[in-house]
Amino acid sequence: MSLRLKLLAAFAYVLVLVLVALEIPLVLSLSSRVDNEVRSRAASQAQVVAAAASARLGERGQLQRVVDQTGRDIGARVVVVDRRGRLLADSAGSQLRDESYASRPEIAAALAGRPGQGTRQSETLGTELLYTAVPILEEGRTVGAVRVTQSNAAVGDRVRRNVLVVVGVGLAALVLGLALAWVLAGSLARPLRALARTARRVEEGELDARADVCGASEQQEVALAFNDMTERLGQVLEAQREFVGNASHQLRTPLTGLRLRLEAAGLKSDDPAVQKELELAEAEVERLTRLLNALLTLARDGERPTLRAPVSLRSASEDAYERWLPRAAASGHVLALEGAGDALVRAGEEDVAITLDNLIENALVYAPSGTRVTVAWDEDGRLAVLDEGPGVPADEQRHVFERFRRGRTDRPGTGLGLAIVETLVRRWGGSASIRSRDEGGARAEVVLPKVGTS
Ligand SMILES: Nc1ncnc2c1ncn2[C@@H]1O[C@H](COP(=O)(O)OP(=O)(O)OP(=O)(O)O)[C@@H](O)[C@H]1O
Ligand SMILES: [Mg+2]
Repeated sequence: MSLRLKLLAAFAYVLVLVLVALEIPLVLSLSSRVDNEVRSRAASQAQVVAAAASARLGERGQLQRVVDQTGRDIGARVVVVDRRGRLLADSAGSQLRDESYASRPEIAAALAGRPGQGTRQSETLGTELLYTAVPILEEGRTVGAVRVTQSNAAVGDRVRRNVLVVVGVGLAALVLGLALAWVLAGSLARPLRALARTARRVEEGELDARADVCGASEQQEVALAFNDMTERLGQVLEAQREFVGNASHQLRTPLTGLRLRLEAAGLKSDDPAVQKELELAEAEVERLTRLLNALLTLARDGERPTLRAPVSLRSASEDAYERWLPRAAASGHVLALEGAGDALVRAGEEDVAITLDNLIENALVYAPSGTRVTVAWDEDGRLAVLDEGPGVPADEQRHVFERFRRGRTDRPGTGLGLAIVETLVRRWGGSASIRSRDEGGARAEVVLPKVGTS
């Protein structure tokens, strides 16, 4: 889960929680407030009508105007009845005039001097009604009653409208909060992504790559620490490189001197036993030189190679063929070249040559004399050496690339050849493998990135 998604989820969770916690009580209090408001308005209007009607019970025209006006104002039906409950004025029209309303409980209560307010189901209208009934008093006596009735649905409508507004505001707050989280997550993730990109570049060998010091102070701290670490890494690698360079120079000279002295000593002695010992000593020196060269090549692992010119696999194979032809002839092998077209690869010329040398040497060492050793290339950047020897068992095919790892063989060797091959081709983004061929023998292969592909 990305940082952005995590932050969005956390924000959404908190926002929804807060909004629900705030809005539910708000909606509840809102609906009771609207209800109270409607009730108190109806009560006060009924009182106003009662006061206006007390002196005008006989004047029906005026009474009708008062109830009409009030009915319109509060959206309700207003009726006025006389002392016996007969209808004097009705905002709903004059059809029911003179009808007796004395049987309505709220009117009966008001005529008995008790004002009342409540809800009841109206059988005639089939909806819930809010009624308010008050007595009309004249000099302390009850001379009639006013009743205001309104549908409760209107109250519900008002509540619903208010709730919608509250929910709308809540949703807008949620969307705004999430947008803020999105922007915030972006600003947190950006420096991290940039840091990861820089780390990749360093990993690929670009040791002078530095992270941008940006973002919040903690992010800047990480970038600074990363830059310090890379700086230190660069220094360590540089020191190691220097050491390798010095060691190779310092060790090669005495080894060459030793070989020359052994040769000279051989010339000075006629004793065949001494000659034999000196020859063996020379072979040891030779082995030591090869081991030193192998170790120095491996020590360059991790060094960032610089591409001078692309290497043609065809000419690298042909050069290797020329180099190894005499040795192949000496060991009784038939060296062959096989390949169509050419491929230009991104690699160092010397690295490709060392790679081929190690693979051809293995084939000559492990395949019996009289067999064929083929150097092959193709247009996809593949370079292979095929032999007709014992091949490499499947469970060893990966392990033989480990340093100092040798297979089941009685031939002399250090176990570094394939490790060097892998180190060299990996430096260029390539890969190396070895497997047994169906027709017998081994196929050691490297794949190098072609020029123009990345
Ligand atoms: N063409 C091959 N056929 C059969 N076995 C092979 C072949 N190439 C490599 N191997 C096996 O892989 C092992 C590792 O090879 P690698 O070249 O790394 O080291 P080595 O040949 O033993 O020593 P050196 O460092 O002198 O090359 C060998 O010991 C051998 O058993
Ligand atoms: Mg070898």
